[in-house]
Amino acid sequence: MTKLRTQLLDCLERCKDVIADASGKPMILVKELSPRARRHLLRHFLALEEKDRLLRFGTKLSDELVTRYVERLDFSRDTIFGVYDRKLRLLGAGHLAFAPREATRVSGATIKPIVAEFGVSVATAARGMGVGTKLFERGAMHCRNADVDTLYMHCLSSNKVMMHIAAKAGMEIQRDYGEADAYLKLKPANSATVFQEAMAEQAATLDYIVKANVRALFKWVAKITGIGKPKA
Ligand SMILES: CC(C)(COP(=O)(O)OP(=O)(O)OC[C@H]1O[C@@H](n2cnc3c(N)ncnc32)[C@H](O)[C@@H]1OP(=O)(O)O)[C@@H](O)C(=O)NCCC(=O)NCCS
Repeated sequence: MTKLRTQLLDCLERCKDVIADASGKPMILVKELSPRARRHLLRHFLALEEKDRLLRFGTKLSDELVTRYVERLDFSRDTIFGVYDRKLRLLGAGHLAFAPREATRVSGATIKPIVAEFGVSVATAARGMGVGTKLFERGAMHCRNADVDTLYMHCLSSNKVMMHIAAKAGMEIQRDYGEADAYLKLKPANSATVFQEAMAEQAATLDYIVKANVRALFKWVAKITGIGKPKA
């Protein structure tokens, strides 16, 4: 049985980077999350350091408030994306909150009735690998396909990494008293953007299913063999 487990681990190791981009780097697959992902989101947010929670939520949030925030996320109104690792832990999460134009700070920037606000966080260990950028790009594409032409972001102007991502995406940035409002005008959707998003979601869903099944298989092997269980 030890041999079986070794073979399974070896197989998983070889499978892990099968989905790679043209440069050979593992692809970052962004998946739209459902309410079932609340516990993943909660674990992700609770693991953020205090300073990162401040950057992400604009205010210092206790564990209790973070829990309440996650419980109240409205998946029927907003769209939340995630990037998972092999152990199905969220490496990053991007939140597109849709609000009526009049209720936002960029009401003059569009004639469309709805504006999207984007918030993002990436686990400390996964930073600098492009996860935040991919979540942003997916959010922007989703807005286009949802007929929203203005993507808005509010953050501290001292947030150099986020400012860099915003500038790289071509966002218009207005700085004011240490805070920054950034917004991006998006082009209308076309058949290519709709197809691209559908394909991205298919790939991320398939990737998630494979990871979930491999985990279930390992649990089952551990259960019947006792291998991998913590020693009493
Ligand atoms: C902001 C955040 C989401 C970025 O995630 P990430 O996955 O590390 O971002 P990426 O790897 O996609 O991109 C980082 C970019 O910033 C650049 N960068 C890193 N440090 C930088 C710095 N000090 N100054 C300027 N740019 C910097 C990197 O070179 C990279 O740019 P490139 O893609 O052009 O090479 C992450 O740092 C985070 O979770 N921060 C805490 C929460 C937060 O600030 N949220 C944003 C407010 S909504």
